[in-house]
Amino acid sequence: MRRPIIAGNWKMYLTPEEGAALAVALAPRAAARADVDVVVCPAMPLLESVGRALAGASLKLGAQNLYPMAEGAFTGEASPKMLVALGCEYCIIGHSERRQYFAEKNAFVNAKVKAALEFDLTPIVCIGETLEEREKKLTFDVVGAQLEGAFEQISAEQAAGIVVAYEPVWAIGTGHTATPEQAQEVHAFIRLKLGRKYGDKTAQAMRLQYGGSVKPDNVDSLMAQPDIDGALVGGASLKVDSFARILNFKR
Ligand code: 13P
Repeated sequence: MRRPIIAGNWKMYLTPEEGAALAVALAPRAAARADVDVVVCPAMPLLESVGRALAGASLKLGAQNLYPMAEGAFTGEASPKMLVALGCEYCIIGHSERRQYFAEKNAFVNAKVKAALEFDLTPIVCIGETLEEREKKLTFDVVGAQLEGAFEQISAEQAAGIVVAYEPVWAIGTGHTATPEQAQEVHAFIRLKLGRKYGDKTAQAMRLQYGGSVKPDNVDSLMAQPDIDGALVGGASLKVDSFARILNFKR
């Protein structure tokens, strides 16, 4: 059985104080759901205060990005080594907003995945098609290419610990969630592709999240799908009650 993983992507919201308060409020709710990994991914300037607030808690800390070097002259960037020092155990990599606004390509995503693994950060690798690509029936081509790119030169042993988040771009922040059937179809394709590359055993062990307008009222039907092992939640992760309801999904 794959252990479910629910992660909140706080994007560029909240102050360090607000983030710490949200983490403190969420920690007991996450602790009460001992069968699920629960992660919050605040913006960089919040990592220290949220990390302190979560010291010793079962609620885990993740970052939203990293630069694929341990250190160096890279103004404005943050290294995996720094993120680990702040208490991060996860890092979102290749989010569609980074691909869209910061022109991140698959090769750069791959370099970030390798850097995260080197520092024992669990990558949450995001892939997903735009509305235009879906309408042109390119979903599997795009998702397949993003997956191949991200996992280039990654071993089966490494892959087993990586989380893949399928986030259709048209579902992010729009309120238009993919139907459970649409999401399951792509998740099954992702697992099939991972199985071809790494073998069935590894593919069956890997956790696949769905992201894109996950809310308290749709999480149960998404989590009921056989290849959906978790959720990557944006807007609904910023409020205690809605995120707590999501991590308390029922299957
Ligand atoms: P929303 O849940 O706000 O649609 O955001 C999804 C997302 O981008 C999570 O990474």
